[in-house]
Order: sequence, then C-alpha cells, then structure tokens
Amino acid sequence: MPFITFEGIDQSGKSTQIEKLAAALGQAGIAAIQVREPGGTALGDRIREILLGPEHEGMDSWSEALLYAAARAQLVSEVIRPALAAGKTVLSDRYIDSSLAYQGFARRLGCQRVLDLNLWATEGLLPDLTLVLHLDVACSRSRLSLRDTGEDRIESEPLDFHKRVEDGYHKLEGMFPDRITGIDGDKSVEEVFSRIVALCRQRFGWEL
Ligand code: TYD
Repeated sequence: MPFITFEGIDQSGKSTQIEKLAAALGQAGIAAIQVREPGGTALGDRIREILLGPEHEGMDSWSEALLYAAARAQLVSEVIRPALAAGKTVLSDRYIDSSLAYQGFARRLGCQRVLDLNLWATEGLLPDLTLVLHLDVACSRSRLSLRDTGEDRIESEPLDFHKRVEDGYHKLEGMFPDRITGIDGDKSVEEVFSRIVALCRQRFGWEL
C-alpha cells in the first residue's frame, strides 16, 4: 500500500490536508494510518522534546540531523513498516524531505550527506508520493505570529533560514520529479484538497 508524505514550511496547511485525506480514505474504505514527525513513538516523542525545546539553542547541526534521523528510524521500524506490511496506506506529516530541506539545505549540511544518513536510518524507505505545500515565507511568518502558542526552537530561526528551507523544497522537487509534486499552498483549503485528490486518483487509482 502507498506511503504518502506531506511537506512544507510551518503553517503551509499540511496538517489540515492530511486530516482531510485520512477522512476521505476512511469513507472510501481504504485502510490508512496517520503519523507525524518528529514523534509518533514513545522514543520519538522524547526526542521531539529535545529537538524542539528552546533550551537547546546551541545544538550542533549534525546532532540535530542525527536526532531527527533517530526518531525517524524508530517510527519506520515500529510503526510505518508494520503498517505497510499489513496492507495499510501510511500518511506522514513530514519525513526525509524535511531533513533534506531543513538540515541539508537550510543548515547547509549538504543534501546528499543528509540523504545518505537517512537512507541508512530507514533502511532505504522512501515515500511513493511526496506532496510539498508551497507557501510564501512572509505569509508563513505572519500566520505564525497570529498563533497564541510560543515559537519552538526551529520556528524561532531567522527569516533567511526559512527562505532556505522553502528554496530547498523547490530544489528537491527538481531533483526527484517522479516522487515529489509541489502544490500551491496559498489557495483555499478546498482547492488544495481537490488537487491532492486528483493526484491520488492519477497515481493510485483511488476514487475519493
Ligand atoms: P512541528 O511542530 O511538528 O511543525 P509542523 O507543524 O510545521 O510540522 O515541528 C517540527 C519542526 O521540526 C518543524 O519546524 C520542522 C522541523 N524538522 C526538521 O528540521 N527536520 C526534520 O527532519 C523534521 C521531521 C522536522
């Protein structure tokens, strides 16, 4: 069964779209599970706290990349592979491409080196389809400022960092055109969702 991942900068609307797709799959009788990164396992949730806690301001970039990969390794072996083996579709809010965009491009560790690390950590598990919701960085920042919760360690990075993340996603789309499809996340929730439904129909033959 397919493994589908959703990517994009903060506030790009990934979570809303994943919820909608999960509901549509449920209605169509297609067995699916939803996961999000970092987290989704007891170990991964502990790693998430370390990664996003503002107290770890001086975290080394490779430590960061390795912690994301460690959380991912656990999620793949404990949840994603067993679900795929049981014939379920897996929808993930972020996966390897987040590490490529944030650590590879924005932290400048190098896309290929971060990819190698993650292929090692996941034993080569790549998604069948990755949907990147593109959003203007200024728009993401203003949506973030409207939220009443504080910023986490990654969200509080400067504007330039977030621009490198968004540019990174565009580069990834060019590098992996068969797997990654970009979608304009600035459109209405319904417009974005109908594009996703159309892509899933084309790719997996689903009538949603
Ligand atoms: P989260 O609150 O889940 O953000 P979002 O709702 O935007 O997905 O926080 C995850 C943060 O971690 C987010 O800012 C992106 C970052 N991140 C990385 O830098 N590398 C990664 O590999 C992953 C999975 C996330």
